[in-house]
Amino acid sequence: MRAAIITSSDSGYAGEREDLSGPVIREILETNGYEVVHTILLPDDREMLAKEMARIADEKQAELIITTGGTGFSPRDCMPEATADVTERAVPGIPEAMRAYSMTITPRAMLSRAAAGIRKSTLIINLPGSPKAVRESLEYIIPSLQHGLEILTGEATNCARK
Ligand code: MTE
Repeated sequence: MRAAIITSSDSGYAGEREDLSGPVIREILETNGYEVVHTILLPDDREMLAKEMARIADEKQAELIITTGGTGFSPRDCMPEATADVTERAVPGIPEAMRAYSMTITPRAMLSRAAAGIRKSTLIINLPGSPKAVRESLEYIIPSLQHGLEILTGEATNCARK
């Protein structure tokens, strides 16, 4: 499966802060057999983020988009809103699972507003911004993603196990 990574960060986009979370996502995806076809760093701008997610899905560039950042309470945080703008079907179970697991690590996990949804045959998942939160969240959900993506793309038709 092909994956794209979108980092949402005003300071990263301005060149004031290095993006440490994007590379963590890449490492985890590649370790799990995904081909990372696209990475981009954007400001916390709802329209720009939504446009990029929609473009990747509409041009069938990747089956999976993982985003990092912009899920908190800062006035500029808008990743869940941008994701809702472009997804046709919500996938609440994935952020629910991330938060449930992350709450066993830090109660502050409840502060992430991360969302997930489907546009056409692309699954979009928001992760929080810090490299620590990214690793904890993504490593927990990644074993279950392959099956969902196979159903989404028509490679699998049901959940029966041999
Ligand atoms: N989830 C995990 N697994 N580990 C963490 O350290 N940090 C939380 C939360 N989720 C955290 C986590 C914190 S402190 C915040 S404010 C929110 O994610 C939102 O993060 P963001 O604003 O960087 O997107």
